[in-house]
Amino acid sequence: EMIHYHDYVLTETSYTRLCSTKNILTVNGQFPGPEIHVHKGDTVILNVTNNGNYNVTLHWHGVKQPRNPWSDGPEYITQCPIKPGANFTYEIKFSSEEGTLWWHAHSDWSRATVHGAIIVYPENGTSYPFPNPHAEETIIFGRSNVTKPPSIFRFVSTIPISDDPNHSIDSSSYVLEGSWYKGDVMEIIEEALEKGGEPNLSDAFTINGQPGDLYDCSKPGTFRMLVEYGKTYLLRMVNAGMNEELFFSVAQHQLTVVGTDGAYIKPLTVDYLMITPGQTMDVLLEANQSSSHYYMAARAYSSGTGVPFDNTTTTAILQYSGNYTVPSSLSLPYLPSYNDTAAATNFTRGLRSLASEDHPIAVPKTVDTRVYTTISMNTYPCANNSCDGPNGSRVLASMSNISFVTPSIDILGAYYNQISGVYDTDFPNEPPYFFNFTADEISSDLLTPTFGTKVIVVEYNSSVEIVIQGTNLLSTAENHPMHLHGYNFYLVGSGFGNFNNVTDPNGYNLVDPPEVNTVGIPKNGWTAIRFLADNPGVWFMHCHLERHASWGMETAIIVKNGPTNETRMLPKPGYMPPC
Ligand code: C2O
Ligand code: CU
Repeated sequence: EMIHYHDYVLTETSYTRLCSTKNILTVNGQFPGPEIHVHKGDTVILNVTNNGNYNVTLHWHGVKQPRNPWSDGPEYITQCPIKPGANFTYEIKFSSEEGTLWWHAHSDWSRATVHGAIIVYPENGTSYPFPNPHAEETIIFGRSNVTKPPSIFRFVSTIPISDDPNHSIDSSSYVLEGSWYKGDVMEIIEEALEKGGEPNLSDAFTINGQPGDLYDCSKPGTFRMLVEYGKTYLLRMVNAGMNEELFFSVAQHQLTVVGTDGAYIKPLTVDYLMITPGQTMDVLLEANQSSSHYYMAARAYSSGTGVPFDNTTTTAILQYSGNYTVPSSLSLPYLPSYNDTAAATNFTRGLRSLASEDHPIAVPKTVDTRVYTTISMNTYPCANNSCDGPNGSRVLASMSNISFVTPSIDILGAYYNQISGVYDTDFPNEPPYFFNFTADEISSDLLTPTFGTKVIVVEYNSSVEIVIQGTNLLSTAENHPMHLHGYNFYLVGSGFGNFNNVTDPNGYNLVDPPEVNTVGIPKNGWTAIRFLADNPGVWFMHCHLERHASWGMETAIIVKNGPTNETRMLPKPGYMPPC
């Protein structure tokens, strides 16, 4: 159980991609950012110095942080931002997670360039539940040129700053008057407005920061993974993308998924995989083809309709060692079509916990607290129909038709110090209406959400089940990767259509459900998750598509303290950044 010390300095760093050079926000000048390597049980003390121009916080995605929400990171949920010129020290304790996780900024959209992998090796004296790989390679999916793209304006501009219907909310004035987005997003928006507010068309998906061979000016930088014939490699994959779920495959090679979200699964051998923003995977690749070069490729899966969508492909090269003639051109591997929901769902359904003696699971068999929530897209009227959503409205998103309003001080601090008026504890246990959520026509009064900072409260050590129902409001049914902080949860059931609380629980998998922190709720369908609420604190829950989170598809879960000192949240650290 080692303690590791790291310094992360955030700075604007000049970067050239796609034939243009711009400043992006980086950690220690690196994009993707530095990797954290630990063994299970270790602790990392990580000091962040913010030399950038904007507020920032960092989050350790998938690290449970037992009893220590103070170091979890989501801005205005567990802490106030680290302001430009300030610093803050995170204490990251690795408990039961093992495999690949990641860290990222959790402040506005800055995670676009501020992210990196976390590799958790088995505890000393233990080993992988699969033969030791010859070597390992990190594969991070992201996008190029994303620090302050005008497309941020496009998405953020539709967010309300007030639930007061009389507030002036036409798209230019409300953001400039805004208070709850504070200075940094305002600057981004103003900058975007100056540039005309149009998305940057030279944007591209990336593998390890590189767009790959199919893009202008990118070929020399294409990421290469060097392999030797006959050896097996462990790929540590992270989808750090903002809004796109991705299909990934390697020409002529199969992939064996052995872990997801820092927990082992039964080996699943596939020709392609699907990875949502927020997810991580451990994947074995056997270099068993003739020595040559092969493309690795990723392309977006877009379950939605009418969403501006990038169907381009990012590539990397799997390069065998040895003497051979390199083919003059490489062929792309098979990838499912961008709208192949069956391909996406079949892959996800194949994931099963290892559930072995060495890696047992603890899925709750009974339920103390059940929450049935919907995740929806919504619209809100704009003065003079001047916004860029349908009929000049603003697009919003919600859980149980409540569009989450980010508070102006952190919920954790308010909870700890019993400051009232920051959040409400009346998040409903059921949606405010019952309906055919996945029908094509849904009554228009559901389109307008209410606003609030409403959180779910559960007792310490209670067994919690959350059923998350996708909806087709606005005819925008799509897959949503929902993420919970502070926990891994068991994905006990999912299906298409409306959840049926009488018959669907009969089909739950309580034997070997995958243990994850992020789950794609299938398009026009539902997912049921369970966990034991044994980690007291305030834990954010949100869609990991950044535009949906920005639009309000968020809530938080307060898990109350237990009865003893060891079952209570750690006391508030001496220094937390002020708001
Ligand atoms: Cu990957 Cu709330 O985070
Ligand atoms: Cu979503």
